Amino acid sequence: MSADFTKSLVILILSTFVIASFSLLVWVVPNLLRTPELIEGSRAIPLTALQVAGRDVYISEGCHVCHTQMVRPLEPEVKRNGRANQESDDIYEFPNLWGSKRTGPDLTNLGRKYSDQWHLLHLIDPRSVVPTSIMPAYPWLFEQVLSGDSITGKMETLRRLGVPYSDEEISEARLEIRGKTKGEVLIHYLQSLGVDTAREVNYE
Ligand code: HEC
Repeated sequence: MSADFTKSLVILILSTFVIASFSLLVWVVPNLLRTPELIEGSRAIPLTALQVAGRDVYISEGCHVCHTQMVRPLEPEVKRNGRANQESDDIYEFPNLWGSKRTGPDLTNLGRKYSDQWHLLHLIDPRSVVPTSIMPAYPWLFEQVLSGDSITGKMETLRRLGVPYSDEEISEARLEIRGKTKGEVLIHYLQSLGVDTAREVNYE
């Protein structure tokens, strides 16, 4: 009659530590060792300043709470959502937006699926283009105008993390964004999704 181990704080902490270390060893360490190889073989293209600003809107509005950006290599998923993600796709993603809940469709390969005008109508009122949609409406995104003041710092941080932005791209970013609405930059981001990595669709 052994004691119930779930009631021992020490065992709980120790076992959490052992399992977390094992996951780190199996999933994270091998990829850290292969980082140069992954970067070399990646088709990912860094986001433009407008797309970086759009990605921030995507995060701040919580789009990733309902939408994943992670197609698993399973036949039904690939049929529905296009090319499966590969580990080298996300070398410029900080933080990644894989998500974990699919109230709406996966958006990994969304770019160029619809026109900019469709996205505009859909974001202002999803029911106007998809009558049965339960997605919330985001009309204010097309009223709130960006100053672009924070973009320089963001791009410099991304460069420090390994995204190869030139000095020129960083210094021009603020003026590119200034005066654009949150909705406009968000559409720039949505239209970029997957167009770099899915250049050749492969259903492996
Ligand atoms: C409460 C959950 C929820 C949130 C939050 C949400 N969506 Fe959706 N989204 C959905 C659902 C459900 C659909 C499917 C119906 C439709 O097309 O409107 C959808 C569909 C979409 C589609 C069409 C995808 C396709 O392949 O047809 C896009 C694009 C999209 N959402 C973008 C966004 C963006 C951008 C945001 C954040 C501003 C967002 N969604 C926030 C639930 C959500």
